[in-house]
Amino acid sequence: MEVHLAEGHAARSLAADVRAGLTATPKSLPPKWFYDAYGSELFERITRLDEYYPTRAEREILAARAPEIARRTSAHTLVELGSGSSEKTRLLLDAMRGNATLRQIVALDVSETALREASAALHAEYPSAAVHGVVGDFTEHLGLLPGEPPRLVAFLGGTIGNLLPDERAKFLGSVRDVLQPGEWLLLGTDVVKDRDVLVRAYDDAAGVTAEFNRNVLRVLNRELSADFDVDAFTHVALWDADNEWIEMRLRADRAMRVHIPALALEVEFAEGEELRTEISAKFRRDAIGRELADAGFDMQQWWTDSEGRFGVSLSRASD
Ligand code: SAH
Ligand code: AVI
Repeated sequence: MEVHLAEGHAARSLAADVRAGLTATPKSLPPKWFYDAYGSELFERITRLDEYYPTRAEREILAARAPEIARRTSAHTLVELGSGSSEKTRLLLDAMRGNATLRQIVALDVSETALREASAALHAEYPSAAVHGVVGDFTEHLGLLPGEPPRLVAFLGGTIGNLLPDERAKFLGSVRDVLQPGEWLLLGTDVVKDRDVLVRAYDDAAGVTAEFNRNVLRVLNRELSADFDVDAFTHVALWDADNEWIEMRLRADRAMRVHIPALALEVEFAEGEELRTEISAKFRRDAIGRELADAGFDMQQWWTDSEGRFGVSLSRASD
């Protein structure tokens, strides 16, 4: 098992993101900064909440379709982007091993702790495959990915929905650029559904999602010596019907001045001001098929779970 690191990159990129996001109107932060060790653990807790259906729904699809995916793609390498714990990924790996095609596993994630844990576990569970862990940003570091073709790139969990539409188009284009014609993309997308079901999934009764949301402020306090009063921010989850995305925000309970010494920056929050921390876009089959086509993919399969809550598509990189 190896873990590759883009040294010093994370610190520079956090500083630039925080400066840009907190000096903008309205304020925002990119969701990738949720995922320090504690944030990754909180995400795993979210996946087990009654209200958070996407993980269970996607697992149901993969359990039913993994053998077909392994057969159709005959992939030698599984590349997983935003791999986290790679829990559902085992369904694909088992099917590829069953098909005797599995040779390499490449996992890429910004969360070094999650990646180290997952890579070590995969190495132990799939001893005949070479496991490469890459700590990096999937919007920037796809060029660093090792792996023997034919490759199957898996981007699961609906994480593509955490990118804004223009970032999404750029991301899909860059995945296509690193693939050869005939290689594969397996994409998990949450689908548009009843507003209340969606809002509940992002505002659970136990408050785990609220804790996850506020964790980004803890990351800024630790990494940039900022002095956010984390408990003075309220978790907000709302459905934006025009954009068809859930938006998570942190609302300042009172007026505040926050110091960020590492950036020599002071940021004012008015009482009630909201900071956007994440969008989670929901999809429709035809629209995502068009986005994939625009990026140079041919969507060949679209599967949903038995309740139609989540979609997984399998696309081939076009010639
Ligand atoms: N694929 C897993 C985890 C989803 S959580 C699942 O389906 O359950 C999203 C994962 O993407 C986290 O592990 C997080 O650390 C990672 N992530 C978020 N933004 C990222 C980025 N820009 N580059 C690389 N990884 C990122
Ligand atoms: C990782 N991503 C797909 C999750 C989502 O549902 O958008 C992150 C998350 N945010 C709140 N809960 C879970």
